[in-house]
Amino acid sequence: MDIEEMIRNRRAVFPKQMNGKKVPQQVLVTMLDLANWAPTHKRTEPWRFKVYTDNALVKLLDLTKVCYVKETPADKFNSVKLDKIEQRKTQVSHVIAICMKRDESQNPLPEFEEIASTSMAVQNMWLYLESTQKYGGYWSTPKYALGDDFRGFLGLQDEEKCLGLFYLGTIEAGLVKSEGKRGNWRDKVVFHS
Ligand SMILES: Cc1cc2nc3c(=O)[nH]c(=O)nc-3n(C[C@H](O)[C@H](O)[C@H](O)COP(=O)(O)O)c2cc1C
Repeated sequence: MDIEEMIRNRRAVFPKQMNGKKVPQQVLVTMLDLANWAPTHKRTEPWRFKVYTDNALVKLLDLTKVCYVKETPADKFNSVKLDKIEQRKTQVSHVIAICMKRDESQNPLPEFEEIASTSMAVQNMWLYLESTQKYGGYWSTPKYALGDDFRGFLGLQDEEKCLGLFYLGTIEAGLVKSEGKRGNWRDKVVFHS
């Protein structure tokens, strides 16, 4: 598969599209190594990943349930949501907390540059997964993952921030991936000459 196909065909793969089989360690390691090659201004390399599997994954998902109950107003509460989170224990292989560590130098980079760099690291992971044709994931940004309970669970330092969770898993055999949808690129580009 060439790079053009990989970019076009990469899709978010959701837990319900995963079969619970573990992503091999070698795939995980290659994915994280490639994330580490993201562009980075002043080489601050701000991306930080905290990888959860097995018992640690169960604990993380249990915390997401607690956060959901805590943060959802009674009139919006839906127990199906809790069931869905519970099911993830048998669908997902790893959850990776996508974190960013701020530049601590005297003249630090603007935060957006470090968020941009971390996002590019995630795109490296996502494209690599597409190249395997077997493994996939998606970036989830529930409010609670960015909140204090999660900060404590992840053991984040003051200068670290969680930007969401990357659900990683083995794609269900025979899954027809959802169709990619984007508006026309021409609507987002202005040429000057
Ligand atoms: C920063 C970021 C945050 C996202 N947060 C969520 C999320 O909270 N829930 C969700 O269902 N998808 C989330 N996504 C995944 C997008 O929904 C997904 O990429 C989008 O549907 C387009 O599909 P595609 O990536 O397969 O083309 C997020 C993606 C990005 C880049």
